[in-house]
Amino acid sequence: MENTLEFIKEKTKDFRPEIGIILGSGLGKFADEHCDYALLYTEIPDFIKSTVQGHKGRLVFAEIDGKRVVMMQGRNHFYEGHSMSEITYPVKVMKKLGVKTLILTNAAGAVNENFKPSDLMLITDHINFMGTNPLIGPNDGTLGERFPDMSEIYKKDLIKIAESCAEKLGIKLQHGVYFASSGPSYETPAEIKMARIMGADAVGMSTVPEAIVANYCGMKVLGISCISNAAAGVKGGQSLSHEEVIETTNAAKAAFKALLKAIISAV
Ligand code: HPA
Repeated sequence: MENTLEFIKEKTKDFRPEIGIILGSGLGKFADEHCDYALLYTEIPDFIKSTVQGHKGRLVFAEIDGKRVVMMQGRNHFYEGHSMSEITYPVKVMKKLGVKTLILTNAAGAVNENFKPSDLMLITDHINFMGTNPLIGPNDGTLGERFPDMSEIYKKDLIKIAESCAEKLGIKLQHGVYFASSGPSYETPAEIKMARIMGADAVGMSTVPEAIVANYCGMKVLGISCISNAAAGVKGGQSLSHEEVIETTNAAKAAFKALLKAIISAV
């Protein structure tokens, strides 16, 4: 960790971010438009390379509307074969750099039949169905405690801020529970039916590990899902493809970027 922090602080002239953002599939463009310093994951000591399509793999630092922000342009996923502790390492780095608020974004499939592709959903809670937990292993007491409370990961005050930003921008928001499966295969219709019975509104393959670690570290979390498709077997849905996920997130990009910028300004 010390090597990572030293390298970042040196390259960014000791830039101290207060807001962290993880940009999901197809949403990385935001960091191209706001970029004071950019570090490739591959050049940062102890970081891992991002391999998924549509992702760049850079840590981008920028001052946006007077707020100091660090963004992950592309995230590492569990399904790539990285361990839970590897994929959540950047969240711990953000914490050590001074980040207090973490905004997690992703592309997700709609489990809720009232959602449409390109809707934006504020995550109100999650179901960890990845079969493991990022906090397994020795506990680092400098970050958090052994049995952290998870009763309000996605902070209600941040949700209120996001709602009021969306209202001012005329953007309609959905709200719901994000269900995380490990991937990389998409779910079967039976699995989506199970997720719905369990209370899920959207399904994806990310976000939950970072949210758990951020909450454990005492960061406030806001989660935004860009609904890219109807999940398997959901009415109106067809067979799923990664191309479709990227294309639909492209369509929602303008609203997403405007909302994100407004939220940064308001938190
Ligand atoms: N399932 C899982 N992950 C996803 C989906 C989906 O339908 N869409 C985008 N990410």
